[in-house]
Amino acid sequence: MSAIIIDGKKVAEAVKSGLRERIRLLAEKKIIPNLTVILVGEDPASRVYVSMKEKACDQLGLLSETVQLPDSVTQEALLNAIQELNRDASVHGILVQMPLPGHIDSRRVIETIDPKKDVDGFHPVNVGKLVAGTPSFVPCTPAGILELLTHYGYVPDGKHVVIVGRSNIVGKPLANLLIQKSATGNATVTVCHTHTKDLAVYTRQADILVAAAGRPKTITGEMVREGVVVIDVGMNRVDDPSAKRGYRLAGDVDFEPVSRKAAAITPVPGGVGPMTIVMLMKNTVQAAENLSKI
Ligand code: GUN
Repeated sequence: MSAIIIDGKKVAEAVKSGLRERIRLLAEKKIIPNLTVILVGEDPASRVYVSMKEKACDQLGLLSETVQLPDSVTQEALLNAIQELNRDASVHGILVQMPLPGHIDSRRVIETIDPKKDVDGFHPVNVGKLVAGTPSFVPCTPAGILELLTHYGYVPDGKHVVIVGRSNIVGKPLANLLIQKSATGNATVTVCHTHTKDLAVYTRQADILVAAAGRPKTITGEMVREGVVVIDVGMNRVDDPSAKRGYRLAGDVDFEPVSRKAAAITPVPGGVGPMTIVMLMKNTVQAAENLSKI
């Protein structure tokens, strides 16, 4: 079997088209959605993500601002910067790029963001709403994964979805979405993580397998069954002397052998990544609509 390659760029373009009308309606009311990103330090991968967000905002005509703070920023100064953005009525979405330096308490940072501007969906109020089945802002990567599956007709209802990874950004919110009684839910969900014994026992049972472990080749060819749908959330830099930068991007899935058995698979890059960004745009538009009572 040769897998269908799930094209995240194409689906992201379709979502963007749907957003343009909403952005136009806001513009009629003189509102341009504004996403402000706080970037702490000089982490090269974070810089790349932030510039991709800026580019996506530009393409859609959204305002994007980046507040760059030094690695040495104090917790207090960072919290003050967030509170200032909370008060600023021209800012609709606030995103603090993770990871943060070790001396910063990420939990306090997330809890300081106004839940109405929390376009990442990381604030406990938004996490709680998601778990309770009344989601407000849904974290972008899980929302993007559901959009990809739906677009390609891989409806999770009744399927066994196995998620490898239990992060607050991907694994946990995705599991919560998939068990909801909803059009994109009704799945049977298994969440595996670093303490799972014999991972392959679970991954082989998956109808839909989501790899979000943050480690290359976490999923090998022997670990999947024929006909599985594979979503690779990994975004790892692996050394590659033949590449221009000396590294290349690799997912968590050993692509070649797994794609020979899978019915469909997302590539890295070009799979989940573009979806995460476009869902952030969608959340920013939603924040602008909510804050302006549209
Ligand atoms: N770092 C990696 N993924 C994310 C994300 O979705 N949001 C934020 N704020 N930081 C990240």
